[in-house]
Amino acid sequence: MKTVESLREVAHSRGLVVGACVNADALRIDPHYAAVLSREFSSITPENALKFGPLSPQPGKYNFSDADALMAFAERHNMAVRGHVLIWHRQLPDWLTRSKPDKKELTRVLINHVRTVVGRYAGRIATWDVVNEAVAPNGRPRNSIWWRVIGPDYVRIAFEAAHEADPRALLFYNDFGIEAPPAQLDAILALLAQLRTQAPIHGIGMQMHLRLADGARVKGLTRRVTQAASLDLKVHITELDVRLPIKTQPSSSDLEEQAAIFGNIVKIGLATPQCDNVTFWGVTDRYSWIPHVFPGKGAALLFDAEYGMKPGYHAVKDVLQLGHLR
Ligand code: G3I
Repeated sequence: MKTVESLREVAHSRGLVVGACVNADALRIDPHYAAVLSREFSSITPENALKFGPLSPQPGKYNFSDADALMAFAERHNMAVRGHVLIWHRQLPDWLTRSKPDKKELTRVLINHVRTVVGRYAGRIATWDVVNEAVAPNGRPRNSIWWRVIGPDYVRIAFEAAHEADPRALLFYNDFGIEAPPAQLDAILALLAQLRTQAPIHGIGMQMHLRLADGARVKGLTRRVTQAASLDLKVHITELDVRLPIKTQPSSSDLEEQAAIFGNIVKIGLATPQCDNVTFWGVTDRYSWIPHVFPGKGAALLFDAEYGMKPGYHAVKDVLQLGHLR
């Protein structure tokens, strides 16, 4: 009797990789999490294990144990790994921000960090989010330590260091805001149009942390993804979730609306030749970041907290199998 195909199997038949970000603690302690992750997804993004602060709590020292465990899991289950994230303004080690480095020192720290982390997984991590969120929602450069101390050139320096450490890796710029007013995405695309003449950059990651209202604007989202694809860069949807208002449980109408949004985003991915990876920002609502940051919101993913397949799971599968919702 043919078993029901998993998400990763139906996605594979359409030439699409469906991924999930992975919580290292959950993977260690929750066998159900590991089983659903390996059955349903064929790409993982370490949610926090490859970020500067978690990796290097002491100057010059690295603890790769969580990242290595995620890497081993991915290789055991024939899954791609999206390295996330080398240079960001958040989750930096305290020693770095406290040390108040000058331009020369911070540039040295940046290059050393990128070379150390990319070099360790050269040939194993095929895709990196090299720089994350360098453009603020108003379209101006984000006022980060990298921008303040090194200047706008930190973006190019980071991509060049990553390319030197692993010339085969595909290097992405990752950001949110595709669902926001155009200023942010316009500025991102202008940055990438210039960057691609100066440095090895291969793709744009569009996070897509959506509310129901954002997801309803399908025409706008389609237009924005097409605009990004016009740069002739790869396009990955890197952190898809759709947060719902919850008191105890989400309403069935919100779950159905969320399902339609997930289906539409996957349709956009399938219709965009440059897009070959759609990654959800988590496996199950149980470990989602959303309730910690957006009080009263949650239920943002494909599996509920008890690993039940939500309407969104079936919608994604329908679109992959039939091209439309059932
Ligand atoms: O590991 C420590 C733990 O030792 C400590 O006891 C606990 C309480 O302070 O904090 C734990 O660290 C938390 C970490 O997640 C691991 O759970 C941090 O406080 C918490 O801030 C961190 O949140 C992460 C967030 O990025 C940080 O900005 C979320 O899990 C993660 O989902 C989220 O992911 C980002 C992407 O990387 C980039 N795009 C936006 C997205 C959402 O912010």
